[in-house]
Amino acid sequence: MKLIVGAAALSIFAVIITSCETALKSAPPVTAAFIQAGRREKADARTLEAGRKVFLNRCISCHALPEIARYDSARIPGIVSWMSYRAHLTPEQREALVKYLLTVRANSRPPGT
Ligand code: HEC
Repeated sequence: MKLIVGAAALSIFAVIITSCETALKSAPPVTAAFIQAGRREKADARTLEAGRKVFLNRCISCHALPEIARYDSARIPGIVSWMSYRAHLTPEQREALVKYLLTVRANSRPPGT
């Protein structure tokens, strides 16, 4: 019995870790280096954090978090406008999200490169 409970706990733990890794990959945390990169988008740490929060909380209700590295940076503002209608974002949330995602994009390489 103990063994079964242990195995169940372990597999739950594994699921949590995997989903955490996915979130970290699709939505990298706002570190000092990230904030430095965000200057290109004229975004401060607070805006980037707000953008990440919107992404993690609002862009995952209908589908998995998209892998931003797949999208050309020129397409990102358009996709966010399109999806912000679906996610019911305020203009401020939308702007923070665009800045966050452009910074993510600038820091990542498309898959397979
Ligand atoms: C209410 C549901 C819903 C929410 C909320 C939502 N999406 Fe989507 N998203 C969709 C659907 C449905 C599609 C598939 C395309 C279509 O049918 O319009 C999609 C497609 C996408 C795509 C693929 C577009 C392409 O052309 O490859 C991206 C990227 C995306 N969403 C990003 C986001 C982001 C960022 C957010 C948060 C602001 C978000 N989505 C919130 C429903 C949603």
